[in-house]
Amino acid sequence: MIDITPHGAREKGFDCTPYDALILGSPVHSWRIPRVVREWIPNLSGDGKKCAIFLTYGGFQIHPAHYTPCQLLQQQGFSVVSSAEFLAFHTFYIGGWKAMEGRPDESDFAVAREYAEIIYARFSGKDTNLVGELEKTCHPEKLLDQIEGFRFRILTQVPTRNGADCCMCREGEEFCLTGAINATTGETDLSRCIACLGCVLRCPEGVLRINDMSPSWEFKLKGEHITKEEMNKKKSRIYL
Ligand SMILES: Cc1cc2nc3c(=O)[nH]c(=O)nc-3n(C[C@H](O)[C@H](O)[C@H](O)COP(=O)(O)O)c2cc1C
Ligand code: SF4
Ligand code: SF4
Repeated sequence: MIDITPHGAREKGFDCTPYDALILGSPVHSWRIPRVVREWIPNLSGDGKKCAIFLTYGGFQIHPAHYTPCQLLQQQGFSVVSSAEFLAFHTFYIGGWKAMEGRPDESDFAVAREYAEIIYARFSGKDTNLVGELEKTCHPEKLLDQIEGFRFRILTQVPTRNGADCCMCREGEEFCLTGAINATTGETDLSRCIACLGCVLRCPEGVLRINDMSPSWEFKLKGEHITKEEMNKKKSRIYL
């Protein structure tokens, strides 16, 4: 297993040659896999190898999230056998959105186990099927890019230490996916940050923070025409 989250790990590239098949896992950010993953996939060389996808998401709308990674992987020469989506607590939970508390739970892990069996059967050739038609988007990429930028205008600010003192461990900076955060100043470059909030989660002193996002929680629920209870009823799903 390789973790392509830190930007240093992605810069190293990834040689698929020694492997029989690939499983790509990614969170969904604004209906798509994050920009950093979209930019990383074109460095891979599939050479006809089989590939499975899984996505994690925070209970809101995510379609057509499966379509882009599938297309990108096919363009790199992979045969995509399947995709799946799993509920996980929403990253913005740490800012005050009470979305998907307690997920993933046993129901999600049961789907994950079933998915592992299916992937194994398809990778080993016991099941020779490939993934079927995935939902396409009618939105141009430019519009989806604009939706991505929308999060900083209305939902969240970038992480900051707000001038507070700290031990200078630099954990947030080392973790950062995009090299956006500067541990010395405690400030984040808005043009690079993708709001994953991984640095906030990792700050051992809890001094790296984002704004209180609780005011936008009701706004988000209204915008998506969903209640918290309806979100909690959602199930992880496999696409074959
Ligand atoms: C910037 C950003 C955008 C997100 N967009 C969506 C979304 O469109 N729909 C959704 O259900 N969850 C969304 N989420 C929630 C994440 O998909 C979810 O919390 C994810 O599984 C987190 O995985 P990670 O901890 O590996 O980042 C978003 C999270 C972030 C940080
Ligand atoms: S992770 Fe937190 S404690 Fe460590 S340098 Fe960054 S702000 Fe300071
Ligand atoms: S939220 Fe933090 S870790 Fe994520 S991209 Fe922004 S600065 Fe980097």
